[in-house]
Amino acid sequence: VRAGVTAVAHPNIALVKYWGKRDESLALPVTGSLSVTLDIFATTTHVTLAPPVPADMNGDAGLTGDVVTLNGRPAGGAAAERVQGFLDLVRALAGRRERAVVESVNQVPTGAGLASSAAGFAALAAAASAAYGLDLDGRALSRLARRGSGSACRSVFGGFVQWHAGTGSGSAGDVSSFAEPVPVGPLDLALVVAVTDAGAKEVPSREAMRHTMATSPLYRAWAQASNTDLTRMRHALARGNLTAVGAIAEGNALGMHAAMLAARPAVRYLSAGSLAVLDAVNALRADNVDAYATADAGPNVVVLCPRADADRVAETVDAIEAVRSVHLARPGPGVRLRSER
Ligand code: DP6
Repeated sequence: VRAGVTAVAHPNIALVKYWGKRDESLALPVTGSLSVTLDIFATTTHVTLAPPVPADMNGDAGLTGDVVTLNGRPAGGAAAERVQGFLDLVRALAGRRERAVVESVNQVPTGAGLASSAAGFAALAAAASAAYGLDLDGRALSRLARRGSGSACRSVFGGFVQWHAGTGSGSAGDVSSFAEPVPVGPLDLALVVAVTDAGAKEVPSREAMRHTMATSPLYRAWAQASNTDLTRMRHALARGNLTAVGAIAEGNALGMHAAMLAARPAVRYLSAGSLAVLDAVNALRADNVDAYATADAGPNVVVLCPRADADRVAETVDAIEAVRSVHLARPGPGVRLRSER
């Protein structure tokens, strides 16, 4: 039995969102983004390499036979292809040929729409790069994870993390677009994840961001506002000003959803249940609780609030009929390798 490598990563929730690529093949974003890594819903990924296949015997066959299981089931279709493509990239960087056996498990309630490509590709980037003998620092690892899924580059680090859009194209663009931790003042932030009933069938985010860029008259305006939001968010975090952090995050997220709604045809992720949570957050604010909402490419809503108010926020949100489950989170750790037992 050959030794493998295990990596653990957590999802992140963006406070200033990433929505749109200026280069699809390199996953270079239009705007910078800033997130907080969570301490729940970890993905654990184990990578083992198969013995090398002699080139003269098998040609390229050794490069196409990766075996991928997700939560104990063989991965197929688009998911398997995406992992395969990512492993090809790692092999090209490492100058290696062996195929890989990848086993990935996430601690996410099934059917909750919380499985995270960010945690998945951050864990895969760390485990696969180590298995193939690449010795990457955090920045380089974030660049690699970015190629699997843009938001994954932020899960390489714990706490608050900025992904720089970078400048230029080609290898200059690639080098300049990485994630790094952001300094924060005292900030006792909790995150209450509200899993809500889904609305219409969801469009994959990759397609939806392409469509929003191509057809939404509001996209440019949102992207411009995002640049200002990034600067303001960095200041708010440095001061530990939770009210400002929440207000900027909520404005940026709703602006992103507005840009999607203005696409033709519209992309709509927020469901009636999501709006009910937004109403409850407004009511909490009217009652002097510092609660703010954000949502990604799905109907679930994440409420940001002071840790001291987290139980009250969770109870309020849990009482909403369309809310199926509520999960309490705090800022969590970056990706790490786990030593083999
Ligand atoms: C709405 O990172 O999943 O969650 O790069 O195409 O894999 P790809 O997209 P992905 O998009 C995440 C979009 C978002 C906002 C965010 O996390 O910043």
